[in-house]
Amino acid sequence: MIRKENVMNIENKTILITGANRGIGRALVEEALKRGAKRVHAATRQPFTHSDGRVTQLTLDVTNAAQIQDAVKKVEALDILINNAGVDLHEDLSERANLERHLAVNLFGTYGVSQAFLPLVARSQGAVVNVLSLAALASVPFTPAYSISKAAAFSLTQSLRAFWAARGVKVHAVMAGPVDTDMTRYLDIPKFSAESVARGILDGLEKGDEDIFPDPMSESIAEGWRSGATKALERQFAAYMPQSEAKATLSGDTNDWDSMRRLKAKGARMRKILTASVILALLFSITASAQNAEKTRRLEPLPRDLEIQLALSALPPHLRDNATVYVLNPDKGFEVARKGTNGFHTFVARTGDDSFRGTWLLKEYRDDILYPISFDEAGAKTQMPVFFDAAAMQAKGIPSEELKKIIQERYKTSYYKAPERAGVSYMLSPILRTYVNPDANDSLATSNIPHVMYYAPNVSNDEMGGAMPTPEQFAYYMQHGRWPDTPYPFLILHGPHGYMVQFRGAAERDAITKQYEGMLARLCKIKEAWCLPH
Ligand SMILES: NC(=O)c1ccc[n+]([C@@H]2O[C@H](COP(=O)([O-])OP(=O)(O)OC[C@H]3O[C@@H](n4cnc5c(N)ncnc54)[C@H](OP(=O)(O)O)[C@@H]3O)[C@@H](O)[C@H]2O)c1
Repeated sequence: MIRKENVMNIENKTILITGANRGIGRALVEEALKRGAKRVHAATRQPFTHSDGRVTQLTLDVTNAAQIQDAVKKVEALDILINNAGVDLHEDLSERANLERHLAVNLFGTYGVSQAFLPLVARSQGAVVNVLSLAALASVPFTPAYSISKAAAFSLTQSLRAFWAARGVKVHAVMAGPVDTDMTRYLDIPKFSAESVARGILDGLEKGDEDIFPDPMSESIAEGWRSGATKALERQFAAYMPQSEAKATLSGDTNDWDSMRRLKAKGARMRKILTASVILALLFSITASAQNAEKTRRLEPLPRDLEIQLALSALPPHLRDNATVYVLNPDKGFEVARKGTNGFHTFVARTGDDSFRGTWLLKEYRDDILYPISFDEAGAKTQMPVFFDAAAMQAKGIPSEELKKIIQERYKTSYYKAPERAGVSYMLSPILRTYVNPDANDSLATSNIPHVMYYAPNVSNDEMGGAMPTPEQFAYYMQHGRWPDTPYPFLILHGPHGYMVQFRGAAERDAITKQYEGMLARLCKIKEAWCLPH
């Protein structure tokens, strides 16, 4: 289960709270100050003063576009935006206007303010917190217009969450139960104090809960919600947002919907992928997620120093010092461990591109696959995203069989392009564990076959004069995990992502193995499958 998405301490942070003059908003101001916030922008419709010098008042009716723009101009930096302003007018659905009044504040107010402050929150890699309600999850029949508006605001929250992840902005939903404020004066039921709920909201934010359940009533459904089918489906849909593409497109302080429009302008290709994704989702979604806990198995990370050493072992010595190194965060995907300058990128694949070859079903995420691989700039743009997207989707809980279909669909629709020039992927590590012949089946081997791969898009083995290893060479390889001699180059992964593979000779292989004796011993201690055969 993925839960801790983010850790955000309030101390020293700049926070803006809408509807800050009373109820939960007011309590949030006090709680943020107690936790050491550097500045609290109290956004209110009414005049508002506070004795603490860290509080500044902003005039803000969330339905007023001009006031929103004025407020943005007055705020220099922002770490956390809390969309708290809300109305519950206790109206029925007999008049369309009733619904519109709720939507104007609870949905469009939240939308307008979030949108306007996004550049500031993105700059600080901060968070947006939308104060919703349990009514967003199940309609409260005596206040239907309010329930509809909170459900819509929750859907907005989920979309922004998926979309703004590429900007480094976390978007949280607060699913509060009944709170003792003006809003619920008319309700004679047990309620929680605004102060305790404000504490619960900031506790949840500090813990990194994506969906925050800030009081005992909401907390009682929290665990069920987080492990339930609806949450799994949200993650699944979110994973269809191609992060590599979004990251490339969503940069700077641009208006986010402009970025969305640019993404859309990529048009047919994107639509094809999304359509395929939705069909796949319908085919595989809820039942698959519920039944396939095994297939969404979280990977155990390697000790960080070992993972970095292993990743660097893919490269020749002269490229190691200045390469960019990534490590796998099983809750998120690959993250930069060390930024380099020489244009080479290296990491250890744990569910690599081999998993997506052939027609066999990827029945489970294996925890023993491991292959250090590196790319130059051309490959980093075109071959590497397959690994990164796969790791991100695995982290989000996409079942393994489905992930294979998604990646294969992306290959088919040319979402993943061929490298734009000739180039190189070094795989010089003394160890790799992966599929032996993934075009045919899922049998695995651990081997010591340092090699170099050159991009060879859209040429066949015959055209390049590739010589596949003989049956005798293969038999030796299967038994010993290395070649008896140095095979001639041959082509793998025919098509836009083809590589010409050239193995290192026995003397160089043995030298590399000697150099990495310690690393190999550590790996072998962690998992038997990572012991090199003799
Ligand atoms: N109370 C509950 O049981 C409960 C439960 C779950 C979630 N919530 C949510 O928690 C949030 C705060 O509710 P509360 O219980 O603290 O309610 P409250 O005491 O009625 O306070 C509502 C706040 O929102 C502000 N507001 C309303 N319309 C606004 C607008 N157009 N522009 C800017 N501010 C506006 C109000 O400002 P004025 O003073 O100017 O009117 C007030 O500060 C709401 O989003 C609500 O839906 C409440």
